[in-house]
Amino acid sequence: MDRLRKEQTYSKVLRDIKSVLDPESDWICILSTTAAILHHAFDHYHWTGFYRVVSPDLLIVGPYQGHQACLHIPFGKGVCGKTAELKKTHVVPDVTKFPGYIACSESTKSEIVVPVIDSEGVLRCVLDVDSDYLAAFDDVDARYLEEIARYVGSKYDNTKVYP
Ligand code: SME
Repeated sequence: MDRLRKEQTYSKVLRDIKSVLDPESDWICILSTTAAILHHAFDHYHWTGFYRVVSPDLLIVGPYQGHQACLHIPFGKGVCGKTAELKKTHVVPDVTKFPGYIACSESTKSEIVVPVIDSEGVLRCVLDVDSDYLAAFDDVDARYLEEIARYVGSKYDNTKVYP
């Protein structure tokens, strides 16, 4: 997909996510709908989803779209754990070169992981997208996925006890 087409698709995805989720407040509904809209918009995506922070240094998978994935990831481990630890986006053009990479699928060649931070600055989950293509993600993916992650993070309601 060329850069312009990618930008246009992300901009439509962002509009779709906001128009569907603006009135919504259920966190799992927000995460699963975001994963579904994103996953079906791009051919270079083959796994799309969230790992949620469930304790101070542990992520658990879900919701997501794609093949079955690793269930638990400690902070600091793999791309997701590093992103959670550093609260910083990681774009990995070749997963075989990433120290401590966690292979949930043999076909994954590249990956991007973005932190999802709520309105009070607390990390709530990471958004992980994997591709079967090498170097599938660039600054356009990073910029839009960060914007989507900011939107999703802003929808987290700290006053609620989530089931
Ligand atoms: N590869 C990831 C693990 C999650 S799966 O790709 C769905 C990682 O290294 O954190």
